[in-house]
Amino acid sequence: MTGEFFRFSDGDATMNTQRNATLTVDGKNIDLPVYSGSIGPEVIDIRQLYAKTGMFTFDPGFMSTAACKSAITYIDGDAGVLLYRGYPIEQLAQNCDFLEVAFLILKGELPNAREKEEFDTIIKRHTMVHEQLIRFYSGFRRDAHPMAVLVGVVGALSAFYHDAMDISDEYHRTVSAHRLIAKLPNIVAMAYKYGRGEPFMYPRNDLSYTANFMRMMFGNPCEDYVPNPVLVRALDRILILHADHEQNASTSTVRLAGSSGANPFACISAGIACLWGPAHGGANEACLQMLEEIGDVSRVGEYIKRAKDKNDSFKLMGFGHRVYKNFDPRAKLMRETCHEVLNELGLHDDRLFKLAVALEKIALEDEYFVSKKLYPNVDFYSGIVQRALGIPTQLFTGIFALARTVGWIAQWNEMISDPEQKIGRPRQLFTGAEQRNVPPLDKR
Ligand code: SDX
Repeated sequence: MTGEFFRFSDGDATMNTQRNATLTVDGKNIDLPVYSGSIGPEVIDIRQLYAKTGMFTFDPGFMSTAACKSAITYIDGDAGVLLYRGYPIEQLAQNCDFLEVAFLILKGELPNAREKEEFDTIIKRHTMVHEQLIRFYSGFRRDAHPMAVLVGVVGALSAFYHDAMDISDEYHRTVSAHRLIAKLPNIVAMAYKYGRGEPFMYPRNDLSYTANFMRMMFGNPCEDYVPNPVLVRALDRILILHADHEQNASTSTVRLAGSSGANPFACISAGIACLWGPAHGGANEACLQMLEEIGDVSRVGEYIKRAKDKNDSFKLMGFGHRVYKNFDPRAKLMRETCHEVLNELGLHDDRLFKLAVALEKIALEDEYFVSKKLYPNVDFYSGIVQRALGIPTQLFTGIFALARTVGWIAQWNEMISDPEQKIGRPRQLFTGAEQRNVPPLDKR
């Protein structure tokens, strides 16, 4: 592990107090500090609210709550802007590869040529997994959902890497971050191979990060696998688009798990479990299943109608977002990547892609979607392009988890490094039974 130490970002998330907000409760004025960050909405510091009023705030789903300060990713949902450490996602997707973006998210700055080479080498040296971890897979059914395998195997990493799990030691945190970023492609590819009954492929250090992943996925021991550079670039861009996204559900899960002092492998496993849900990272798998179910443009109207029906739980998968009330910039980049891949593979007449384009057009012209500001999100096109790349539907969210591990571990480290960090422990509005006595059994 020598020579792999680089400091995580010291881009401290500063807060400036500019004024107070005054809350009047039962005729009593309470002054609460208002903080501003570098860009984006200000916050009202309510940490003293309970002490001063005996009241909690009430915000299920955290619609109006900043759970932390962060300097990593900024989203302007109304303007459709996504910045990683200040750089627009469009420019990063165009000018960088995934490991450069990983370095940026972790360290706060883009690597220069020497740093890039050094970081690529560090990550390559961590791609193999412990040989005993490989045996872990045989405990799963062959038809297990890959996300179930990832939750188990990533959590099990904490049983193998005791040499760097002191989370108070920045060097240990750095090595664990490298291990997770490097091993996830291998672990995801092994989940795929295990499900198909094919032999695992060992990583190759002469390949780039994403080419290595594609070879571990689609290669076999009987012949050389030569990655298609257009497809490698497309998948590398997909990883960039999914690398981080502020305080989404899975990132918040990683932060909350980490706030107890749990080790990074257990925290990332918790993030994977949360990402699996169809309302979150599982939406790309659900979106492709929805497109398959719709089947033909002639049936789009029927599903748009269902999506608008309050009595129908059906939602248009890949549409809507808690933050974006304009186009998700990643959806536009994903649609372009889709075009590139389908053209490269001679699939420009792909049935599902044409159906998706038609569905997007119809939805965006429908008053319901317009009035509720529901636009395609990152998951709408990602399933189509991943299917074209040969990735099975059930593995789409595994690819998302592979990419998001960078964001999760950077956010986890930012939290652990914060001197004000406390264990996360929300309260509640209790609506249950008031205190009562237990009646004897014959009196119940
Ligand atoms: C990701 O947070 C992140 O950053 C997540 C993510 C990331 O990178 O980490 O961006 C990745 O999770 C993208 C989202 C993928 N999920 C989907 O595509 C599933 C379909 N979308 C919906 O489930 C929904 O839009 C959410 C979960 C994404 C957002 O839910 P919100 O913010 O809680 O919005 P909401 O459910 O309150 O919706 C507001 C209104 C509701 O109607 P009303 O109650 O106001 O009458 O819009 C409706 C919803 O019923 N609505 C939809 C809809 N999404 C919202 N109606 C039909 N189809 C939809 N897709």
